[in-house]
Amino acid sequence: MPTPHIEVRNKNEIAKTVLMPGDPLRAKFIADTFLTDVKQFNSVRNVLGYTGNYKGRRISVMASGMGMPSIGIYSYELYKFYDVENIVRIGSCGGYTSDVKLYDVILVKDAWSESTYAKVQGGYEGNIIEGTPELNQKLIKAANDLGIPIHIERIHSSDVFYRENPDKYKEIYEKYGCVAVEMESFALFHNAKVLGKNAACLLTVSDNLATKEETTSEERQNSFTNMMKIALELAE
Ligand code: HPA
Repeated sequence: MPTPHIEVRNKNEIAKTVLMPGDPLRAKFIADTFLTDVKQFNSVRNVLGYTGNYKGRRISVMASGMGMPSIGIYSYELYKFYDVENIVRIGSCGGYTSDVKLYDVILVKDAWSESTYAKVQGGYEGNIIEGTPELNQKLIKAANDLGIPIHIERIHSSDVFYRENPDKYKEIYEKYGCVAVEMESFALFHNAKVLGKNAACLLTVSDNLATKEETTSEERQNSFTNMMKIALELAE
Protein backbone atom coordinates (compact mmCIF):
# COMPACT_ATOMS: atom_id res chain seq x y z
CA MET A 1 0.00 0.00 0.00
CA PRO A 2 -0.54 2.31 -1.66
CA THR A 3 -1.31 0.12 -4.69
CA PRO A 4 -0.71 1.20 -8.29
CA HIS A 5 -4.31 2.45 -8.61
CA ILE A 6 -5.43 3.37 -5.07
CA GLU A 7 -3.46 6.00 -3.15
CA VAL A 8 -4.67 5.61 0.45
CA ARG A 9 -2.00 4.21 2.79
CA ASN A 10 -4.18 3.27 5.76
CA LYS A 11 -6.50 0.37 4.98
CA ASN A 12 -8.81 1.44 7.82
CA GLU A 13 -9.89 4.36 5.66
CA ILE A 14 -11.83 1.92 3.46
CA ALA A 15 -14.89 0.12 4.90
CA LYS A 16 -15.35 -3.67 4.72
CA THR A 17 -18.16 -3.14 2.22
CA VAL A 18 -17.62 -1.12 -0.96
CA LEU A 19 -20.29 -0.13 -3.47
CA MET A 20 -18.91 0.12 -7.02
CA PRO A 21 -20.65 2.14 -9.69
CA GLY A 22 -18.84 2.26 -13.04
CA ASP A 23 -18.81 6.05 -13.24
CA PRO A 24 -16.68 8.13 -10.82
CA LEU A 25 -19.31 10.89 -10.83
CA ARG A 26 -21.89 8.36 -9.71
CA ALA A 27 -19.61 7.49 -6.78
CA LYS A 28 -19.44 11.20 -5.93
CA PHE A 29 -23.23 11.50 -6.31
CA ILE A 30 -23.77 8.66 -3.81
CA ALA A 31 -21.32 10.18 -1.31
CA ASP A 32 -22.84 13.68 -1.69
CA THR A 33 -26.46 12.49 -1.56
CA PHE A 34 -26.54 9.65 0.94
CA LEU A 35 -23.45 9.67 3.18
CA THR A 36 -22.43 11.78 6.17
CA ASP A 37 -18.94 12.34 7.62
CA VAL A 38 -17.50 11.65 4.18
CA LYS A 39 -13.77 11.30 3.59
CA GLN A 40 -12.37 10.90 0.08
CA PHE A 41 -9.71 8.16 -0.09
CA ASN A 42 -8.90 7.96 -3.79
CA SER A 43 -8.54 10.22 -6.81
CA VAL A 44 -5.91 8.36 -8.86
CA ARG A 45 -7.02 8.57 -12.53
CA ASN A 46 -10.13 10.36 -11.24
CA VAL A 47 -11.45 7.01 -10.01
CA LEU A 48 -13.07 8.63 -6.99
CA GLY A 49 -13.44 6.72 -3.72
CA TYR A 50 -15.20 7.83 -0.51
CA THR A 51 -15.97 6.42 2.93
CA GLY A 52 -18.81 7.71 5.07
CA ASN A 53 -21.83 6.79 7.18
CA TYR A 54 -25.25 5.71 5.99
CA LYS A 55 -27.90 5.73 8.74
CA GLY A 56 -24.95 5.77 11.18
CA ARG A 57 -23.29 2.70 9.62
CA ARG A 58 -20.00 2.73 7.71
CA ILE A 59 -19.67 2.06 3.98
CA SER A 60 -17.37 2.99 1.10
CA VAL A 61 -18.11 3.79 -2.51
CA MET A 62 -15.56 3.74 -5.31
CA ALA A 63 -15.83 3.69 -9.09
CA SER A 64 -14.82 0.61 -11.11
CA GLY A 65 -14.46 2.17 -14.55
CA MET A 66 -15.92 0.35 -17.53
CA GLY A 67 -15.25 -3.25 -18.52
CA MET A 68 -13.69 -6.34 -16.99
CA PRO A 69 -10.03 -5.26 -17.14
CA SER A 70 -10.91 -2.13 -15.17
CA ILE A 71 -13.14 -3.67 -12.48
CA GLY A 72 -10.65 -6.54 -12.38
CA ILE A 73 -7.90 -4.18 -11.24
CA TYR A 74 -9.87 -2.16 -8.69
CA SER A 75 -11.73 -5.05 -7.10
CA TYR A 76 -8.52 -7.10 -6.82
CA GLU A 77 -6.66 -4.30 -5.08
CA LEU A 78 -9.55 -3.62 -2.68
CA TYR A 79 -9.97 -7.29 -1.75
CA LYS A 80 -6.33 -8.31 -1.61
CA PHE A 81 -4.51 -5.24 -0.26
CA TYR A 82 -7.19 -3.25 1.61
CA ASP A 83 -8.99 -6.17 3.35
CA VAL A 84 -12.33 -5.35 1.75
CA GLU A 85 -14.77 -8.25 2.29
CA ASN A 86 -17.83 -7.28 0.22
CA ILE A 87 -18.11 -5.49 -3.10
CA VAL A 88 -21.51 -4.67 -4.58
CA ARG A 89 -21.39 -3.45 -8.14
CA ILE A 90 -24.22 -1.01 -8.89
CA GLY A 91 -24.37 -0.44 -12.61
CA SER A 92 -26.47 -0.06 -15.69
CA CYS A 93 -27.42 -2.71 -18.22
CA GLY A 94 -29.07 -3.11 -21.58
CA GLY A 95 -32.18 -5.31 -21.61
CA TYR A 96 -32.24 -8.28 -24.00
CA THR A 97 -36.02 -8.81 -23.64
CA SER A 98 -39.11 -6.62 -23.20
CA ASP A 99 -39.64 -8.46 -19.87
CA VAL A 100 -37.16 -6.01 -18.30
CA LYS A 101 -38.29 -2.38 -18.50
CA LEU A 102 -36.30 0.88 -18.29
CA TYR A 103 -35.34 1.58 -14.64
CA ASP A 104 -36.17 -1.99 -13.48
CA VAL A 105 -33.62 -3.32 -10.97
CA ILE A 106 -31.94 -6.68 -11.57
CA LEU A 107 -30.02 -8.63 -8.92
CA VAL A 108 -27.50 -10.72 -10.84
CA LYS A 109 -27.86 -14.37 -9.84
CA ASP A 110 -25.02 -15.34 -12.15
CA ALA A 111 -23.10 -13.91 -15.10
CA TRP A 112 -22.54 -15.74 -18.38
CA SER A 113 -19.58 -14.55 -20.43
CA GLU A 114 -17.44 -15.47 -23.43
CA SER A 115 -14.66 -13.36 -21.83
CA THR A 116 -11.24 -14.90 -21.20
CA TYR A 117 -10.85 -12.90 -17.96
CA ALA A 118 -11.35 -15.80 -15.53
CA LYS A 119 -9.28 -18.21 -17.61
CA VAL A 120 -6.35 -15.81 -17.92
CA GLN A 121 -6.53 -14.61 -14.31
CA GLY A 122 -6.91 -17.97 -12.61
CA GLY A 123 -7.34 -20.84 -15.06
CA TYR A 124 -11.13 -21.03 -14.68
CA GLU A 125 -12.52 -22.61 -17.86
CA GLY A 126 -16.26 -22.10 -17.24
CA ASN A 127 -18.55 -19.47 -18.75
CA ILE A 128 -20.82 -18.87 -15.76
CA ILE A 129 -19.92 -17.44 -12.33
CA GLU A 130 -22.45 -16.67 -9.61
CA GLY A 131 -22.60 -13.84 -7.11
CA THR A 132 -22.22 -14.69 -3.41
CA PRO A 133 -25.53 -16.19 -2.23
CA GLU A 134 -25.28 -14.78 1.34
CA LEU A 135 -24.78 -11.25 -0.01
CA ASN A 136 -27.65 -11.74 -2.45
CA GLN A 137 -29.93 -12.82 0.42
CA LYS A 138 -29.13 -9.59 2.29
CA LEU A 139 -29.86 -7.52 -0.82
CA ILE A 140 -33.15 -9.37 -1.43
CA LYS A 141 -34.19 -8.66 2.17
CA ALA A 142 -33.22 -4.99 1.84
CA ALA A 143 -35.20 -4.67 -1.40
CA ASN A 144 -38.24 -6.33 0.22
CA ASP A 145 -38.01 -4.09 3.30
CA LEU A 146 -37.82 -1.02 1.06
CA GLY A 147 -40.70 -2.24 -1.13
CA ILE A 148 -38.55 -2.08 -4.28
CA PRO A 149 -39.29 -4.89 -6.77
CA ILE A 150 -36.26 -6.69 -8.22
CA HIS A 151 -35.67 -9.30 -10.91
CA ILE A 152 -33.22 -12.09 -9.92
CA GLU A 153 -31.68 -13.25 -13.19
CA ARG A 154 -28.71 -14.36 -15.24
CA ILE A 155 -27.05 -11.60 -17.25
CA HIS A 156 -24.45 -11.42 -20.00
CA SER A 157 -21.06 -9.88 -19.10
CA SER A 158 -19.63 -8.72 -22.41
CA ASP A 159 -16.19 -7.47 -23.44
CA VAL A 160 -17.71 -5.69 -26.43
CA PHE A 161 -20.17 -2.78 -26.45
CA TYR A 162 -20.30 -2.25 -30.24
CA ARG A 163 -20.75 -5.55 -32.05
CA GLU A 164 -20.65 -5.91 -35.84
CA ASN A 165 -23.71 -8.16 -35.54
CA PRO A 166 -26.22 -6.09 -33.53
CA ASP A 167 -28.72 -9.01 -33.45
CA LYS A 168 -26.36 -11.38 -31.62
CA TYR A 169 -28.12 -10.58 -28.35
CA LYS A 170 -31.15 -12.62 -29.46
CA GLU A 171 -29.07 -15.80 -29.58
CA ILE A 172 -27.44 -15.08 -26.20
CA TYR A 173 -30.86 -14.51 -24.65
CA GLU A 174 -32.37 -17.68 -26.14
CA LYS A 175 -29.39 -20.01 -25.71
CA TYR A 176 -28.07 -18.93 -22.31
CA GLY A 177 -31.04 -17.19 -20.67
CA CYS A 178 -29.33 -13.82 -20.17
CA VAL A 179 -32.00 -11.11 -19.76
CA ALA A 180 -29.59 -8.15 -20.01
CA VAL A 181 -26.01 -7.15 -20.79
CA GLU A 182 -23.33 -5.27 -18.86
CA MET A 183 -19.54 -5.45 -18.89
CA GLU A 184 -18.15 -6.13 -15.41
CA SER A 185 -19.78 -8.70 -13.13
CA PHE A 186 -18.09 -11.87 -14.50
CA ALA A 187 -14.66 -10.45 -13.57
CA LEU A 188 -15.85 -9.14 -10.19
CA PHE A 189 -17.43 -12.50 -9.28
CA HIS A 190 -14.29 -14.34 -10.37
CA ASN A 191 -11.98 -12.16 -8.26
CA ALA A 192 -14.23 -12.65 -5.22
CA LYS A 193 -14.14 -16.39 -5.73
CA VAL A 194 -10.36 -16.77 -6.06
CA LEU A 195 -9.73 -14.45 -3.09
CA GLY A 196 -12.39 -15.98 -0.79
CA LYS A 197 -14.41 -12.74 -0.69
CA ASN A 198 -18.04 -11.74 -1.38
CA ALA A 199 -19.47 -10.02 -4.46
CA ALA A 200 -22.89 -9.06 -5.73
CA CYS A 201 -24.24 -6.97 -8.56
CA LEU A 202 -27.35 -4.81 -8.82
CA LEU A 203 -28.18 -3.35 -12.22
CA THR A 204 -30.68 -0.76 -13.42
CA VAL A 205 -31.94 -1.13 -16.97
CA SER A 206 -30.73 1.94 -18.89
CA ASP A 207 -31.62 0.81 -22.41
CA ASN A 208 -33.25 -2.09 -24.13
CA LEU A 209 -31.86 -3.77 -27.24
CA ALA A 210 -35.19 -5.49 -27.97
CA THR A 211 -37.48 -2.45 -27.65
CA LYS A 212 -34.82 0.19 -28.57
CA GLU A 213 -35.80 2.34 -25.58
CA GLU A 214 -33.02 4.32 -23.89
CA THR A 215 -32.34 6.86 -21.12
CA THR A 216 -30.11 9.94 -21.30
CA SER A 217 -26.76 10.04 -19.50
CA GLU A 218 -28.10 12.74 -17.19
CA GLU A 219 -31.09 10.58 -16.23
CA ARG A 220 -28.75 7.65 -15.67
CA GLN A 221 -26.49 9.56 -13.33
CA ASN A 222 -29.24 10.82 -11.09
CA SER A 223 -32.12 8.41 -11.21
CA PHE A 224 -30.62 5.08 -10.22
CA THR A 225 -31.45 5.75 -6.60
CA ASN A 226 -33.55 2.61 -5.98
CA MET A 227 -30.58 0.35 -6.63
CA MET A 228 -28.35 2.61 -4.53
CA LYS A 229 -30.75 2.52 -1.57
CA ILE A 230 -30.88 -1.28 -1.65
CA ALA A 231 -27.08 -1.59 -1.74
CA LEU A 232 -26.54 1.07 0.96
CA GLU A 233 -28.46 -1.12 3.42
CA LEU A 234 -25.32 -3.30 3.57
CA ALA A 235 -23.53 -0.57 5.54
CA GLU A 236 -22.36 -1.90 8.90
N1 HPA B 1 -24.19 -3.10 -23.56
C1 HPA B 1 -23.26 -3.29 -22.65
N2 HPA B 1 -23.28 -2.72 -21.46
C2 HPA B 1 -24.30 -1.91 -21.17
C3 HPA B 1 -25.32 -1.69 -22.08
C4 HPA B 1 -25.26 -2.31 -23.34
O1 HPA B 1 -26.15 -2.15 -24.20
N3 HPA B 1 -26.20 -0.81 -21.52
C5 HPA B 1 -25.71 -0.54 -20.29
N4 HPA B 1 -24.58 -1.21 -20.07
